[in-house]
Amino acid sequence: RTVTVLISGTGTNLQALIDARQARRLDLEFVQVVSNRPEAPGLRRAQQAGIPVTVVDHTEFADREAFDRELANTVAQGAPDLVVLAGFMRILGPAMLQRFENRMINLHPSLLPLYRGTDTYRRALEAGDREHGASVHFVTAELDGGPVISQVRIPVETGDTPERLEARLAPREHDLLVATVELFTRHPVQCCHGSITIDDKPL
Ligand code: GRF
Repeated sequence: RTVTVLISGTGTNLQALIDARQARRLDLEFVQVVSNRPEAPGLRRAQQAGIPVTVVDHTEFADREAFDRELANTVAQGAPDLVVLAGFMRILGPAMLQRFENRMINLHPSLLPLYRGTDTYRRALEAGDREHGASVHFVTAELDGGPVISQVRIPVETGDTPERLEARLAPREHDLLVATVELFTRHPVQCCHGSITIDDKPL
């Protein structure tokens, strides 16, 4: 199975995938890593692992559609089986969504359907939640609203701040992403009208 990873930032989730592959836990080939930000530190992680990198800088496009079309063309060139959004902070448009429907997953730091969008740690704390977590879901036109594939949950502790919660969640989030990508490498996972099946059986 071939995978293209989209990033915008530090790329610790990308690193988790790279490490899992190097440890032979993941049987996959990285086609390329694509970032919308030229200065994303995660690009160096990819280069150090020998993965081709491409920057599609969203600030260089007249509008969201033009960026989306170029991004779709760039990703399509490598014909990946799976597209993984790992800390990719742009909202995708129809070109990406249609081209990679059922083949594109996103990691989101909340127990979806709670807290779509940003600032999830602060919002969970302000709501007095006793648990927080991360989800991997299929990407659809609805922001952070596609069918959920997998989740990890951790307890909120007394005195937690958004930063503490994020730091405690991070390693669990990395494990979740690796385990979910591993699922894709072993089974023909499909997203069918809001439900998820593996080998034609519901998850
Ligand atoms: C992670 O918290 C992820 O859940 C969110 O953005 C962050 C990216 O971290 N979508 P990194 O770039 O993988 O280090």
